Amino acid sequence: MAVLIAQDLVPRSPTLAVAAVRREAEILLRLRGVVDRELSLLLTSDDRIAELNRTWRNKPGPTNVLAFPMADEAGQGGPAMLGDVIISLDTAAREAAAEHITLHQRVTVLLIHGLVHLLGYDHERSEPEQVLMEDEEQRLLSALHREKRRGKMVRLAVNVDHVATLRQARGGAEPDPVQAAGICELAGAVGIVVHLREDRRHMQDRDVILLRQTVKTKLNLEMAASAEIIAIALKLKPDMVTMVPEKRQELTTEGGLNVAGQKKKLASVVARMTKAGIPVSMFVDPDPRQIRAAGEIGATFVEIHTGRYCDAKTTAEREREFDLVAQAATTAFEAGLRVNAGHGLDYLNTAPVAALGAIEELSIGHAIMARAILVGLDQAVREMLALLPR
Ligand code: PXP
Repeated sequence: MAVLIAQDLVPRSPTLAVAAVRREAEILLRLRGVVDRELSLLLTSDDRIAELNRTWRNKPGPTNVLAFPMADEAGQGGPAMLGDVIISLDTAAREAAAEHITLHQRVTVLLIHGLVHLLGYDHERSEPEQVLMEDEEQRLLSALHREKRRGKMVRLAVNVDHVATLRQARGGAEPDPVQAAGICELAGAVGIVVHLREDRRHMQDRDVILLRQTVKTKLNLEMAASAEIIAIALKLKPDMVTMVPEKRQELTTEGGLNVAGQKKKLASVVARMTKAGIPVSMFVDPDPRQIRAAGEIGATFVEIHTGRYCDAKTTAEREREFDLVAQAATTAFEAGLRVNAGHGLDYLNTAPVAALGAIEELSIGHAIMARAILVGLDQAVREMLALLPR
């Protein structure tokens, strides 16, 4: 089974992760038991698809997707072809905008449509066949989402900012967040998160430099989109950055980033980080508009803000906020984004969030550090890990 992808658009679509499309095509073929045939997928323009539409189907104008099954058997030594799926990214982008979904989501739907055609379904033959084909498309879409998440564990990344807050209270050298990060890793955390704030109220430049040298798992630098911090991140090269809003007077990050309201500025940060090989996450409220915007500007991850769920005062409010987090996680995952979550998570409210299939990683700071003062950091991290599904 192989998926051959060609893209003849100049310039290439900046927001479509072709590797993710290939992975989805491979999963779809596997789900349909197609193991010994090749699929050719062409991502193209309206002009090119209009030409193919005219030549092979005698129809005028562009369309969103074309599928040409290949009936012939394997050539000399090579696998047989299943056929060609051709998608116009111009039309797909217009349809995505009209449906308020990301380009990736629309391409996935069109890919499934084309693939189902190659497998012999044809909605144009009769109404019952149209119903059958739509059912199969829905089934494959759900199976694809389930399959992408299968067997994945939720990982824990520990935010060690509070260790630095305690040190800064006396302006000395103890406790050291660099040592704390090592203890968290030894206890089983797979990531260390730090926020280098513009006012340097907790983490200092020395900390992030040492952490870059010593963190053995993954260093995630939380940062505002300010010129100074961007320059530091590009030099430091953390394993990823998480863009957060920052206000001088706030006690902690108060809300998600307004990605939709500053797409141009943030797209340029994403482009610079991507060029330096640093994946970018956007810390957003559980709001589909913000998630869509994060996908559109090329972010790899979103981190869904769980603060309102964690701060809810009544059961009804908590359930409402939890539903928003759950829906946001699914929306982001189906849009091809990788999904993290965090803020306010503690030993009582984390398990339901960790059980959400779409979420890969939780970023937790305050609750772990607060418990660490009483039971020790190693134990506090292990107790949190014990709450996550494995
Ligand atoms: N994620 C982000 C983006 C944050 O800013 C913070 C707080 O620093 C956290 C997660 C962790 O939140 P908490 O300290 O409440 O666990």
